Amino acid sequence: MQLQEILFSQGFGTRRVCAGLVQQGYVAVAGAPCDDPTAEFEPTEGLRFTVQGTDWEYHEKAYLMLHKPAGYECSQKPSAYPSIYTLLPAPIRQRGGGAAAGVQAVGRLDQDTTGLLLLSDDGKFIHRMSSPKHHVPKVYEVRAKHPVDDKQVAKLLAGVVLDDDPRPVRAAACEKTGEHQLSLTLTEGKYHQVKRMIAAVGNRVEEVGGLHRSRIGSLDLPADLKAGGWRWLTAQDLARIAG
Ligand code: URA
Repeated sequence: MQLQEILFSQGFGTRRVCAGLVQQGYVAVAGAPCDDPTAEFEPTEGLRFTVQGTDWEYHEKAYLMLHKPAGYECSQKPSAYPSIYTLLPAPIRQRGGGAAAGVQAVGRLDQDTTGLLLLSDDGKFIHRMSSPKHHVPKVYEVRAKHPVDDKQVAKLLAGVVLDDDPRPVRAAACEKTGEHQLSLTLTEGKYHQVKRMIAAVGNRVEEVGGLHRSRIGSLDLPADLKAGGWRWLTAQDLARIAG
């Protein structure tokens, strides 16, 4: 693939802009500067290249994780808080060009929820992961306003009825992890599900720092990924969320 095409596919602007970046000497591939936009390279997954001093990896499709901080909305057009998409570098937001450019979050976390969020530009992957048939367990760490008791845990495991569906929803796992804390595993993703389930058993998720998603499938939010940080998913990470 021509170098200008590689840059274009990775979100570095129009073909003309990409050709210009190369011609002006801003691009290196695997450490070697290249100023010929038509130079051919094999676009292998993870191919390293540099644009204006920043290191990048080539990915045919983008799969990434973000450690969502509190105070961000998972929307392209947020209403009250900044969008999570502002936490990503411009090329990741612009991949593919056109109206539906860039990566999209796989499901949403509330503005005040923190933790593991997946993003991709692979429509099939997003659809599969968001489908109600896809029961990948998601683990949430909850800080509750009132002390957590065994009755609440038992009810969450047995199933509670929420206001939009007569069928009870139950936690796949629920463990008290502290006086005011519990770890809840869900296999569905209804609107505000954790908050509504906790309310249904007579408790309440704390408004600040009350809800954190720590795991999807068997993929944990890495301890060294700071709030607001992102990274590419590896093939091993993807296997962990395959479900
Ligand atoms: N359940 C909620 O109530 N909020 C989230 O952000 C995620 C799950």
